[in-house]
Amino acid sequence: SGVGAKNIFWHDTAVTKADRQQLNNHKSCTVWFTGLSGSGKSTLANAVAKRLHELEVRTYVLDGDNIRHGLNKDLGFSPEARTENIRRIGEVAKLFVDSGVIVLTAFISPYREDRQLVRNLLEEQEFIEVYTKCTLDECEKRDPKGLYKKARSGVIKEFTGISAPYEEPDHPEIIVQTDTQTIEQSVEKIIQQLKEQGII
Ligand code: PPS
Repeated sequence: SGVGAKNIFWHDTAVTKADRQQLNNHKSCTVWFTGLSGSGKSTLANAVAKRLHELEVRTYVLDGDNIRHGLNKDLGFSPEARTENIRRIGEVAKLFVDSGVIVLTAFISPYREDRQLVRNLLEEQEFIEVYTKCTLDECEKRDPKGLYKKARSGVIKEFTGISAPYEEPDHPEIIVQTDTQTIEQSVEKIIQQLKEQGII
């Protein structure tokens, strides 16, 4: 009867990641910031995004506090909840990379294994781990949200660096020492890495 399925061919016309990257004129990746609360993850992620935007690069910032208001509002700060938090963010970051964007993520992500899991979700060149290194002392001095004070007095339990662990990265692509380097110096270091890897 009529045309019949045998004469109908599937044409794979889907737009691919490569197509989107070509249109954008740059590659996509995840710049994964990890570090203690108050170490400068969000500040730097936003500063790098601003700089990239000026260079006409498409970016998106995923931030711990914001994501925990929406997508991950069901998650607390137990080790299991943090693992699930990072797993979901990893999957979201992967979608952004597929969309052709440079996604900058700012999560404490205290467990090495969880960060490794995200790394494994992506292609080798697509995961750039940035350790915002800062002494606990300095983070506690900054205490922009008054959380360290609450953690010390026991009002907040399981607080990273005080009553919950932070596992330093062994081989991050970049270390930025936020207690001795300026924001501009740190931004420059990250931009240089993106250029060296041929992403921008
Ligand atoms: S994690 O460990 O990666 O799942 O954490 P993240 O999603 O980045 O959320 C960290 C922000 O939540 C606030 N907050 C806490 N942090 C650590 N430990 C405890 N117990 C805690 N409770 C609330 C805090 O504002 C963190 O924000 P940043 O920007 O890191 O300071």
